[in-house]
Amino acid sequence: DLTTTLNKLHFKTPLMNAAGVHCATTTELDDLLDSQAGGLVTKSATLQPRTGNPDPRYANLPFGSINSMGLPNQGLDYYLNYANATALTHPDFPILLSLAGQSLAENLQMLERIQASAFSGLTELNLSCPNVPGKPQIGYDFDQMKTILTAVFQTFNQPLGIKLPPYFDLAQFDLVADILNQFPLAFINTINSVGNGLFINLETETTVIKPKGGFGGIGGSYVKPVALANVRAFRQRLNPAIQIIGTGGVVSGGDLFELILCGADVVQIGTTLAQEGTPAFGRILTELERIMAQKGYATLADFRGNLKTL
Ligand code: DHB
Repeated sequence: DLTTTLNKLHFKTPLMNAAGVHCATTTELDDLLDSQAGGLVTKSATLQPRTGNPDPRYANLPFGSINSMGLPNQGLDYYLNYANATALTHPDFPILLSLAGQSLAENLQMLERIQASAFSGLTELNLSCPNVPGKPQIGYDFDQMKTILTAVFQTFNQPLGIKLPPYFDLAQFDLVADILNQFPLAFINTINSVGNGLFINLETETTVIKPKGGFGGIGGSYVKPVALANVRAFRQRLNPAIQIIGTGGVVSGGDLFELILCGADVVQIGTTLAQEGTPAFGRILTELERIMAQKGYATLADFRGNLKTL
């Protein structure tokens, strides 16, 4: 039994795509509906469509990926229409809408559109895009984060979560959790890519992506220990009512097991989905089932959050 729930929505498996990967077009989103994913999230949307940064803007690396996409997306209405149409054809498939407005006003406008529509899924407000030149990540500005959440919850009365950047200092976890615990968040999603990293082609002495002089968000195996730490640290600090989507570095069933052991309710895959396509879901879930059987666990709840320390 691999089922899980997020804000009362039922997931047949704990895996889904990470926002940005395989979710920009209806074709890609339909692939997710037909996969072993338990839910899906749409590409982070802005009010108007965007073309994003110049190519090359994504590269595979020996142990993961680097990207500086720059928020290419079809605009909110495209994803909202897809979600509302899919709710009729696939009523049991949880859908998350990811939003990445470039100002508080733009985020509030998008939330008002969602609230005025028939949308019955979950909304994920992205506070951690590292790739729009001149736009610092909101998740690293704690005062701005509190201001935004205050305004958002004055406007929006439907289930809402936030996508966070990785934090690295235990004092930061204390500060951020103190702020988040003041709001009726349905969930947090941790982590976004580790931004900004730099990858170099030794032979040519060049960067491997073009935008921003080669700096970009790092994903994949490089970031798994950071993801585990963020899920664990927030699970230890957040109100139990705030659930956690764990994201970062899941390549195998063992990685998935570890994120759940740290407290993740749902787990997302980014780089591995980009590299393997939707068959990655079935492969990783089969590996998880084997580990659970070996250990004698029948459900995810049998080990969720139960990390042991020395
Ligand atoms: C993009 C990257 C992110 O990590 C994110 O959270 C949102 C957008 C991007 O470059 O498109």
